[in-house]
Amino acid sequence: MPMKFIHFTDIHQLQAGQSLHGLNPHERLQACLDSINQFHDDAEFCVITGDLAHRGEDHAYRLLLDQLDQVKMPCHLVIGNHDHRETFKNCCKHVKSDIEGFVQYTVETNSGVFVMLDTVTKPGSDLGAYCKQRQDWLQKTLIKHQNEPVFLFMHHPPFEIHIPAFDKPAFNDKNAFSEMVHSFKNIRHLFFGHTHRPIFGNWQGISFSSMRSTNHQVELNFKEPSELKFCDEKPEYAVVFLTDESVVIHSHSYL
Ligand SMILES: [Fe+2]
Repeated sequence: MPMKFIHFTDIHQLQAGQSLHGLNPHERLQACLDSINQFHDDAEFCVITGDLAHRGEDHAYRLLLDQLDQVKMPCHLVIGNHDHRETFKNCCKHVKSDIEGFVQYTVETNSGVFVMLDTVTKPGSDLGAYCKQRQDWLQKTLIKHQNEPVFLFMHHPPFEIHIPAFDKPAFNDKNAFSEMVHSFKNIRHLFFGHTHRPIFGNWQGISFSSMRSTNHQVELNFKEPSELKFCDEKPEYAVVFLTDESVVIHSHSYL
């Protein structure tokens, strides 16, 4: 039997009724969760890869927790550049942090170890980072689990995606991060968010995927190095099946 789980990202929660780029993040998330409950209640869990709250405000995290309470399976949370780490930790006390206070933790399953990473720099900055303290935690974690399949989850992609408005630069410490991750041969897939685009490929031997946001999308533009432009492509979530042989990812455009 494959293991099944759900990945979605960039929900950008505000207050109920408040819109963002002409769309309502709260309602769009609710439609996502209703769809997951209706069609995928056999999934083991969901993972949400950041930008949980658009302005990192506590009422948005509380609203999110209320909504996630309705989901028939656990939801594991990763923070993104729009999140505020300390506010998140105050509101979501059940989410673990590492010894330095970064929101990093593992979820151990029969199909392998799911490693949740914190790539946030400081409030207000879009830049991703993976400093020495975080690298030390990840190295210890990967050594501990070096004989098991490992799946990584992070908000920022740790490499260029060839959309100039993202690659300007987008991720500090990317060489150190890449060197460390690629020194382990048991990492089976990397899931990320941040891009608000469906992007798939392979990074020096590690397959990866990102999904559209549950709210607004980034226009596909490989030419202009200016600010990101947003558009109203349909939101989606990923239905992921894991076996010893494969990682299979289905996109469900749930609206
Ligand atoms: Fe986002």
